[in-house]
Amino acid sequence: MSQIKLINIVGARPQFIKASAISRAIKLSSSDTIGEIIVHTGQHYDKEMSDVFFDELEIHQPHYNLGVGSSSHGRQTSMMITGIEEVLLKEKPDCVLLYGDTNSTLAGAIAASKMHFPVVHVEAGLRSFNKTMPEEINRIVSDHASTLLFAPTNAAFKNLMREGFRPENSPRYTIDNPKIYLTGDIMYDNALFYSELAEKKKSAFLESLKVKRNGFVLVTIHREINTDNTRRLEVLMKTLISLAQETSMTFVMPLHPRTILSLKTKLPSLFEDLNKSPFIRIIPPASYLEMILLEKNSRMIITDSGGVQKESHFFRKPCLVLRAETEWVELVKNGTAELVDADPVKIRDGFMKFKNDGSDLTYPSFYGDGKTAEFILNEIIMMFE
Ligand code: UD1
Ligand code: UDP
Repeated sequence: MSQIKLINIVGARPQFIKASAISRAIKLSSSDTIGEIIVHTGQHYDKEMSDVFFDELEIHQPHYNLGVGSSSHGRQTSMMITGIEEVLLKEKPDCVLLYGDTNSTLAGAIAASKMHFPVVHVEAGLRSFNKTMPEEINRIVSDHASTLLFAPTNAAFKNLMREGFRPENSPRYTIDNPKIYLTGDIMYDNALFYSELAEKKKSAFLESLKVKRNGFVLVTIHREINTDNTRRLEVLMKTLISLAQETSMTFVMPLHPRTILSLKTKLPSLFEDLNKSPFIRIIPPASYLEMILLEKNSRMIITDSGGVQKESHFFRKPCLVLRAETEWVELVKNGTAELVDADPVKIRDGFMKFKNDGSDLTYPSFYGDGKTAEFILNEIIMMFE
């Protein structure tokens, strides 16, 4: 069998992290069988939103960077489709690997499926059942343009079946005869792989923040619904400042550039209050190793991020989710994550509950065995045997 040419399409922070699990697994066991080409759409481009992950996670530098940058959804996605199409025409890959639910995922799915290149979707089947989220549209379209779909949870697998995907399909798999798999989560592979390394390499980072282990709250906010709705952002930040002051706990906030921009331009005096508060520590986006160190050592996590919700579970921390719904429903059912939306009462109640009493919480293994990337690669190889 000749080497399988696989194009990995990435563009946003969580995709670099996810792609690193696949790249590591290829290097470990399949570099004779699979040749990987990395296409970076350029959706994220600041050093701390992009380069830092390639350096820290030892991912091969992108073979192509489309440099699309920030724009409206339609404009950004269309530039990505054009750029990806050109790469696919030139490279003629055996398959195209996509991760998650960003505009880069959507663009890859449209470009590749229309050119009849098989699409492999990692993190398939997740649904929020809220189509006003840009990510929900991206997920649905990407799943229905895919040939191999790797669902990370039972709930995701069931969602795919509800949408007509049939687990009993047999080879040869095509876009009209797709294969769905229930796997674990490749982000769990990473959390296991990097957890100790983060302690070794980044303990100075934690010291520089002057926070006590297990004595601070980690907060991330970046979702469109929370950053672009000024009223919501104001309510969230005011609630968090007042909880921090009331409990004298430090809230560490590595904020996405989008959130900083909204605060600076729409809520400048609140931004000043946040920066002046002795209990709020706004910092630039953290590297992945810094982030998992923060997660491991926090008392509680407050976030609207999908990835950070799961990492709270990997590192056995309770989590308040600043959204009305989540795709990771097993966390909420388990009682270790709570949907508090942007509701000050729910945030406060959830915070006090988790702060005062976390000892009886349990963190069952929902996300596989840490070898999901290897499983995915084996299935890709089998498709070409
Ligand atoms: C995107 C994804 C979201 C994912 C997130 C991960 C879509 C529709 N959304 O959201 O699902 O959770 O990435 O982080 O694909 N910006 C910078 N520097 C950068 C990147 C962005 O300043 O390097 C700012 C720009 O003002 C930009 C804004 O952030 O307009 C939003 O960036 P964009 O990539 O469009 O969406 P995210 O919010 O990052
Ligand atoms: N992350 C990071 N630095 C940060 C915030 C997040 O490295 O400052 C990591 C986080 O640990 C997780 C991933 O980025 O692995 C989640 O990405 P993000 O929250 O941007 O997007 P989402 O998962 O919501 O799509």
